[in-house]
Amino acid sequence: MTDEWCGWREATRTALYGDEGFYRRPEGPAGHFRTSVHASGLFASAVARLLVRTARELGSGTVDLVDVGAGRGELLTGVLAALPAEDPSLAVRAYAVELAPRPPGLDPAVTWCSGVPSGVRGLLFANEWLDNVPAEVAEADADGVVRRVLVRRSDGAERLGGPVTGEDARWLERWWPLTRPGERAEIGRPRDEAW
Ligand SMILES: C[S@@+](CC[C@H](N)C(=O)[O-])C[C@H]1O[C@@H](n2cnc3c(N)ncnc32)[C@H](O)[C@@H]1O
Repeated sequence: MTDEWCGWREATRTALYGDEGFYRRPEGPAGHFRTSVHASGLFASAVARLLVRTARELGSGTVDLVDVGAGRGELLTGVLAALPAEDPSLAVRAYAVELAPRPPGLDPAVTWCSGVPSGVRGLLFANEWLDNVPAEVAEADADGVVRRVLVRRSDGAERLGGPVTGEDARWLERWWPLTRPGERAEIGRPRDEAW
């Protein structure tokens, strides 16, 4: 089967975001690991304080808070809960940008979106998001030619594919040059673009 082999970008995309992907599961990422968002309320309180400062600098009584890769909305929920202690008069429009569906029971004040809303003014967070943007893996072969690493869907075996060319080759040359046979790199171009 020729389509059994694909690059790491596609393999990661399927594993994380496909129909049965890790981040689609109902328990969400917090069911498996903790980030600063889940560890305590301190992070949300700090974001709430920063939001108040941002609104003051903007000279506005209304401010937007966008959370990209929002998990199940935990950060936004925490910030909305912490705000009254920081500034009870501040009005916040909260947006969760997520590939996973809106979780049941989330505060209706949170708008659930599939992309970053336009025309927002305030703060945008993307806590632990960029490392979840799938990227290709490259390896220098025995002759030093930099090739895309292919992975077999059925068992995770790897082999080298065609040479890395174009924009990806230029990205590696600039940021992560491979000089010796067997050296490997992630091609972080999709993360740069996401940023
Ligand atoms: C490691 S979790 C971090 C969750 C939360 N920000 C936290 O810090 O606990 C990464 C999240 O990003 C989401 N995600 C990944 N790519 C995305 C995209 N292109 N647009 C929106 N959400 C995305 C995933 O579904 C997942 O919920």
